[in-house]
Amino acid sequence: MAENNQQAGNPAQWSSRFAFIMAAVGSAVGLGNIWKFPYITGENGGGAFVLVYLACIAVIGLPLMMAEVMLGRRGGKSPIGTMERVAATEGRSKGWGGIGIMATLAAFLILSFYSVIAGWTMPYIVSAVSGEFSGIAAEESGALFGGLLASPGELLLWHSIFMGLTVLVSAGGVRHGLERAVTKLMPALFVLLLILVGYAMTTGHFGEAVSFLFTPDFSALTAEAVLVALGHAFFTLSLASGAMMAYGAYLKKDVSIARTSVVVAIMDTGVALLAGLAIFPIVFANGLEPGAGPGLIFVTLPVAFGQMPGGSFFASLFFVLLLFAAWTSSISMLESLVSYLNEKGVSRVKAAIGGGLVAWLVGITTVLSLNEWSGFTPLDMFARFEGKTLFDLYDYLTANIMMPLGALFTAIFVGWKMKPEHSAGELGGWHKVWFPVIRYLSPIALLIVFYFNLK
Ligand code: PFF
Ligand code: NA
Repeated sequence: MAENNQQAGNPAQWSSRFAFIMAAVGSAVGLGNIWKFPYITGENGGGAFVLVYLACIAVIGLPLMMAEVMLGRRGGKSPIGTMERVAATEGRSKGWGGIGIMATLAAFLILSFYSVIAGWTMPYIVSAVSGEFSGIAAEESGALFGGLLASPGELLLWHSIFMGLTVLVSAGGVRHGLERAVTKLMPALFVLLLILVGYAMTTGHFGEAVSFLFTPDFSALTAEAVLVALGHAFFTLSLASGAMMAYGAYLKKDVSIARTSVVVAIMDTGVALLAGLAIFPIVFANGLEPGAGPGLIFVTLPVAFGQMPGGSFFASLFFVLLLFAAWTSSISMLESLVSYLNEKGVSRVKAAIGGGLVAWLVGITTVLSLNEWSGFTPLDMFARFEGKTLFDLYDYLTANIMMPLGALFTAIFVGWKMKPEHSAGELGGWHKVWFPVIRYLSPIALLIVFYFNLK
């Protein structure tokens, strides 16, 4: 093995561009696409929200992804180590390491509640396999979901299993299992979504869903909705949370960062739009509420599967794939912290177990937010946070505050503090387009969104 290192290159690197794409897509595609995107689109009125979200991906998300992967590759360390090192090479203050610290914290906080939601897929796999969804009506499906949320014990069990799975891969090193799993599972998820969209077309409400998703009604758009769309652009692309920076550190020098980022962003957006096209026809066909919130897919999809020939099989497969999609994302959330602790001399195994344990503990407060503590809304004195449970607050704080702020500082760093020759060396010909966008357009767009939300 040891004598092979030379030939195999750095063992801590992705084996190919394809491997990096798979890992990055694995991180990007997750609950954000299939669970969160449809329900926040429903809550924020559809078309106009979707359009703003797509604009955020193109103008801010994609350029930021290129920036983060580029920083990661230059720094070659954990997000915190990378930011400190790159800042030092640029002759800038070590304080820029703060970008890495905030990203690591955001990822960690996201992991705590993400694990709880990902846990939901497991009882759904059990129900699907045992044929419980066949012929199920919307009310029954709603009751089933309600029953799950009402049971802290059950939620805790699945949350614990999911966190265990995350720690398991993270402890073993991300590269090993991840590449293999993602190459098979992501295409399967894609195909299954296409089948679901095919089914959705038969409901007779496909046109209604298409116009809901793609006919913008800007009168329905609030400043808050724009902030949610922006926050989701970061969340869905795994930005401002260290994941892409950490993975970028394992990327070989000869891979085009720009082209690779474009592929990842397109795949992620494609999955989100397919999920919307699969879910909303079912929502409308069954007289369900598009703004139903976090339970949207868990209530609607069983109804659809229950009416499909072979529904139990497809339902089982779907929730298994969703579980895997969430898993490849959660692994990347832990990577910022684990790689940092690893740099500080803690073994990967210890770092993964320790980090997972604390995230698991924090996750318990999300479990309780869904039932016993559903009335505990500690920040009611601020209008912005009114009625938000701890779970709602973690989500809001990460996606709508920490990630946009982290993005702003990152854009300022690469656009104004880093020598353009250095970023050009990493990005090649794309630099000409990318640089003005990240220097002017992205920060200005971010500041405008902040301004209207603070007003
Ligand atoms: N991009 C993931 C999703 O859409 O589900 C969520 C995510 C993964 C956020 C990794 C942050 C992160 F570091
Ligand atoms: Na995503």
